[in-house]
Amino acid sequence: MEHYIVQGGNPLSGEVEISGAKNAALAILAASIMADETVIIENVPDVSDIRVLVEAIQSIGAVVEHPDRHIYHINGALIRDLPVDNELVRRIRGSYYMIGALLGKYKRAQVALPGGCAIGLRPIDQHIKGFRALGAKIRLENGMVVAEAENLHGAHIYMDVVSVGATINIMMAASMARGTTIIENAAKEPHVVDLANFLGSMGAKIKGAGTDVIRIHGVEHLHKTDYVIIPDQIEAGTYMFAAAATRGDVTITNIIPKHMESISAKLSEIGCEIKESDDAIRIVASRRLQATNVKTLPYPGFPTDMQPQIAVLLGLSSGTSIVTEGIFENRFKYVDEMTKMGAHITVESSTAIIDGVQSYSGASLYAPDLRAGAALVMAALAANGISRIYNIHYIERGYEDFPDKIRSLGGEMVKVNDGAEDSDAMRRMMLKVI
Ligand code: UD1
Repeated sequence: MEHYIVQGGNPLSGEVEISGAKNAALAILAASIMADETVIIENVPDVSDIRVLVEAIQSIGAVVEHPDRHIYHINGALIRDLPVDNELVRRIRGSYYMIGALLGKYKRAQVALPGGCAIGLRPIDQHIKGFRALGAKIRLENGMVVAEAENLHGAHIYMDVVSVGATINIMMAASMARGTTIIENAAKEPHVVDLANFLGSMGAKIKGAGTDVIRIHGVEHLHKTDYVIIPDQIEAGTYMFAAAATRGDVTITNIIPKHMESISAKLSEIGCEIKESDDAIRIVASRRLQATNVKTLPYPGFPTDMQPQIAVLLGLSSGTSIVTEGIFENRFKYVDEMTKMGAHITVESSTAIIDGVQSYSGASLYAPDLRAGAALVMAALAANGISRIYNIHYIERGYEDFPDKIRSLGGEMVKVNDGAEDSDAMRRMMLKVI
């Protein structure tokens, strides 16, 4: 196993390019099998969740070529009616998008129940409700979701909760159903819009993605396309917050500033300078930041996937902040790790009360999930001394080249084998080689 070693204390500075959006890529890769021709997908991030989903797609007979680190060619014409299941598929959340894609195209899907980060109950009742409304019969069998339909037909579906995954899954299946589907109370996240644009580029008829009512008029076939995935809002936000936590000066490039608004607004509010251009944001934090309150909400609200990162930042800000988790029940598991670094955070139900401290100190830390893991790296970069971060397989699910990107900004971070000698790891870190 491997872990990160981080020497804290350097303000991050310079420019960092953001990779393609993991959550958009998961949906788009799954949807690509709905075409009978070769689909080209560009700007796919090279992270482990993507590799697992691609393996799952291949395992049921899709022909996958990978001519470049960030480009996939996928042809789903020869897909066989096989269950989508292996130990890894069960670990990633995005595997459930195979249900919508297979059901839409073949009117039958058999997919292992999804895993993903353990941040709450994460039910899939809204997905099932949507598939049933489209005419599918759904049963759960040996840990698999089995969905079958003679024919799928359009339906008027009102979502009881705003769910990114259910909106995406229903949109995929409805794209190849007979007639018109209306999804009300739909999720508006950038990756919902990106999937709608991708499906549209294959010939699907979708209107309203990005609003809370999406209309889908089903078509019989989807055709080839060449599509570039949007930049990752959460990766970008993580670097913005890391810049702020280390009192740095960082320009985040290859982003869509509109997607960053709730994040940029909070950073301005607590005292950072933010400068936006067409596809970049510069963030400068020259002094100690101020406390604030924040509640996570569906887009365009403040993202739950940035909740641990903002808590780490507010932990260093002056005054008392309140962070309320509005989406998942169990997303404060990183707080014990922060306490080891000297943070003053008390959790009461879905609220964290944070009394800002002057500084964190380095510690041995265990990432409890993907985004909290990235937040702990941020804390380590801002801390005095050396930290070790374990369980980095969580972090590698969603951050491409994390140590390299941090080092390019002047941070000191290396990935080492658990058994590596400290002196060797430190020497490599100081020499900035891996
Ligand atoms: C997606 C993202 C995840 C992000 C989350 C919220 C992917 C692969 N993952 O997860 O990174 O944190 O959106 O932005 O894109 N719910 C139900 N019933 C359902 C579905 C969801 O009650 O059938 C609830 C969930 O428990 C949660 C809320 O709805 O409380 C939002 O979940 P949802 O938007 O579906 O999250 P995911 O799609 O799992």
